[in-house]
Amino acid sequence: MGSTVKAYAITADAVAAERKRVNDDLEQVDIAKVVRLEDLDLRDVGPRDVRLRILAVSAEHNINHAALADTVNIAEARGGRMFPGNSALGEVVEVGTEVDKFKVGDIAITHCNGDPDRFGFPLRIWAYDMPESVGWYAEEAVVEEWQLLQAPLDCGLNLWEMAALPLRAPTAYHMWRRALGIFRVKVTREQLATVNVLGFGGGVSELFLMLAKSEGHNAYFCSGSPERRAALEEMGIVGIDQKEYNRFAERGDVSRFRNTVRDLTGGADMHIVCDMLRGPVFGAGLAVAARGGVNVSAGWQLSQVLEYNSALLSVKQITLDHTHYETLPGCAAATELYGRVFKPTIHEEIYPFEDLGRAFEEMHRNTQTGIPIIRVADELPDSVKHLT
Ligand SMILES: NC(=O)c1ccc[n+]([C@@H]2O[C@H](COP(=O)([O-])OP(=O)(O)OC[C@H]3O[C@@H](n4cnc5c(N)ncnc54)[C@H](OP(=O)(O)O)[C@@H]3O)[C@@H](O)[C@H]2O)c1
Repeated sequence: MGSTVKAYAITADAVAAERKRVNDDLEQVDIAKVVRLEDLDLRDVGPRDVRLRILAVSAEHNINHAALADTVNIAEARGGRMFPGNSALGEVVEVGTEVDKFKVGDIAITHCNGDPDRFGFPLRIWAYDMPESVGWYAEEAVVEEWQLLQAPLDCGLNLWEMAALPLRAPTAYHMWRRALGIFRVKVTREQLATVNVLGFGGGVSELFLMLAKSEGHNAYFCSGSPERRAALEEMGIVGIDQKEYNRFAERGDVSRFRNTVRDLTGGADMHIVCDMLRGPVFGAGLAVAARGGVNVSAGWQLSQVLEYNSALLSVKQITLDHTHYETLPGCAAATELYGRVFKPTIHEEIYPFEDLGRAFEEMHRNTQTGIPIIRVADELPDSVKHLT
């Protein structure tokens, strides 16, 4: 039977009202005013559907992009209202007659590849630009079975850490296999077994560096957050304070960063750079790229449009690669690495469901000490109580 649940929505009207209030100054936007709790009618459970009681979700940056309308005005494009949320962990409470991978009581995680192309890559992202897709920042959700994976409950992570990964881990996994694969077309393992890998701040970059480190490479994390750098340093990933370089606001800041990287790497520079931010970070990443290097991105937090000297990149044999989200087999492979490789840093507060808007506002202000998690269900099933 269909039912009505509480779910967060973003409306084009709320986006417009908030932009008007702050005179289009996106720095001043209060995301909590745009992401609001509403009633959502869930569809009946069809033959291939699973009904999930959502236990926890992670805050993902695409919600801020939707609330700010800084890339596209996705709420408007979706007809004026969207229900966001494309990373969740939940308990299966009902299954359709043709569902064979899940049973009632299972704990599932989502992936957000909403519409695989012929090679498996997403044409659309679930709860973002996929038409009709309803997100998971809700008490319950009805999704088709293919949109779910079994949560690896015995991976060694706690529930909140697992909830941090459904979107960010497959993104990092995909970027890493692409970047290393491209580098290996140019430079074989026999020529250079250990490569230098740089990531700038943010959850996806952190996971990317964990992959690099786990495979024996040298990993460097350039972030403005002392807490996040400290967490990665415990894994042997070298921290670089981005604020010491004034977040690359001036050319001189980039030059100083360039010198630091040269010293840190013995003159070898960075063979692979993960840049989810662009903006001033892009130039800094290129400045420290080694010959034959690869600069990979699936994000555009600070800007979408890049400028670079094509001749210079040709001479240096540098590849810029743009990725999106993983294929379904890639999502499954990334899930295998929960706890073994992926040990995410979690923000110190686990937000209650009613404060989800605040979680996004604090993400916008960049005050969090790790990936923000929102606990949706007050009562947890016995199968996961020991994981909190
Ligand atoms: N295509 C995909 O599938 C996909 C998947 C995930 C994310 N994304 C996109 O990738 C981007 C990053 O996402 P994420 O989840 O990795 O990040 P995140 O965990 O939300 O972290 C964002 C990071 O941005 C950094 N930051 C904030 N303001 C900054 C500034 N002015 N200058 C430099 N750095 C700043 C902060 O790093 P420090 O303060 O630590 O330096 C912060 O940790 C977003 O645009 C997101 O939408 C795309």
